Amino acid sequence: MKKKIAILGSTGSIGKQTLEIIRDNKKYFDIFLLSTNENLNEILKQVKLYKPKNLIITNKKKFLLFKKKNKHVKVYNNYKSLKKIFQKKIDYVMSAISGFEGLQPTIEIIKHTKSIAIANKESIICGWSLISKELKKNKTNFVPVDSEHFSIWSLTNKKYGNIDQIFITASGGPFLNKKRENLKNIKPAHAIKHPRWNMGKKISIDSATMVNKVFEVIEANKIFNISLKNIKVLSHPASYVHAIVKFKNGLTKILIHDTNMKIPIFNSLFNKNEKIKSEQLNINKLNNLNFNLISKKQFPALNLIKYFSSKNNSLLETVLVSANDELVDLFLKNKIKFLDITKKLLIVLNLKEFKRLRLKKPNNLAQIIRLNKYVRLKTRSLCVVSNVNA
Ligand SMILES: NC(=O)c1ccc[n+]([C@@H]2O[C@H](COP(=O)([O-])OP(=O)(O)OC[C@H]3O[C@@H](n4cnc5c(N)ncnc54)[C@H](OP(=O)(O)O)[C@@H]3O)[C@@H](O)[C@H]2O)c1
Repeated sequence: MKKKIAILGSTGSIGKQTLEIIRDNKKYFDIFLLSTNENLNEILKQVKLYKPKNLIITNKKKFLLFKKKNKHVKVYNNYKSLKKIFQKKIDYVMSAISGFEGLQPTIEIIKHTKSIAIANKESIICGWSLISKELKKNKTNFVPVDSEHFSIWSLTNKKYGNIDQIFITASGGPFLNKKRENLKNIKPAHAIKHPRWNMGKKISIDSATMVNKVFEVIEANKIFNISLKNIKVLSHPASYVHAIVKFKNGLTKILIHDTNMKIPIFNSLFNKNEKIKSEQLNINKLNNLNFNLISKKQFPALNLIKYFSSKNNSLLETVLVSANDELVDLFLKNKIKFLDITKKLLIVLNLKEFKRLRLKKPNNLAQIIRLNKYVRLKTRSLCVVSNVNA
């Protein structure tokens, strides 16, 4: 029987790559639900090619426009409709909306699927305590799809108690070998050009500032329940090794795959026996793996990690993700400078009203959403103030 699939954020980089794997293996899959915010051109192409049973288009204007022109397609305007859309559990969901907006849909779709692959790291960081509760309650299988976390997950076979240390690798983004003082006038078009990965704009900027690695360290702390001090970041420009795990029994395992997100996605979709087209083992790359510790002077964003507690999910994670979402938006709109992203993040995390949230566990989703709105406003106001003073 064909697997029923839903993709949240099907018009994005991860969404499209998931669909390409499905296109190459059509006989195994039925597309039950696809979603976009506003990309009507792409979603129309996807409707023609994959014939999804349902669509969600969250941008109101685009939703109405689409509905008017495509009367034959079942389309909804928001994720509150999930209850209406799902009569029974489907087989697999890929959660690939970008930023904080992915949190609510991710939590709400868990009860409707047997398995969920989560690429949206922001939802894991802000809402892991709620997500893990939903996973347990609904007996939903979970696969992390961020390449580093997928690698750690594969290496540990879900036995996280044996982990001693985790080393997360970082390609270093477009500015690994650039001096910080030369980054003052970097424009968005330059910052989104990642040397190794072809990703959405938001995560590409996070890679350039190194905030992405801060996210990944916190994400690993949550998923694998390992202390933050035992998670290290190493620069590895070749992006061949995605994670190194040192176990308590003295063994260390590393996981290598091509710089291609289709590999983690493919493995989250299939059992172990199917074959994906991949490159031959590259001995040359193996002989030149080249790892280094990353300088906090060059990438001060790494200082953000010390604000967080290893113990549990706190509301401070929502402050980090929300402030960063706002700052990246402002940078992409040319309203702040590249270096301001990290500078302002450190300022926001140092505000007394937020610092005290370090040990405050989120009670529910509504509280996290309220905090997100407040932090975005606060962050924006700090930027306006500093621009006026400049
Ligand atoms: N790309 C990668 O290689 C990669 C690797 C590891 C982890 N991730 C994580 O995976 C997630 C997706 O990344 P991506 O690079 O695929 O992002 P992306 O290319 O920017 O795509 C984001 C998707 O989310 C949708 N979306 C954006 N804002 C939305 C909103 N407010 N409401 C509903 N849908 C919205 C977009 O719709 P529109 O097309 O209409 O904007 C698009 O379908 C991120 O959390 C990222 O950190 C990505």
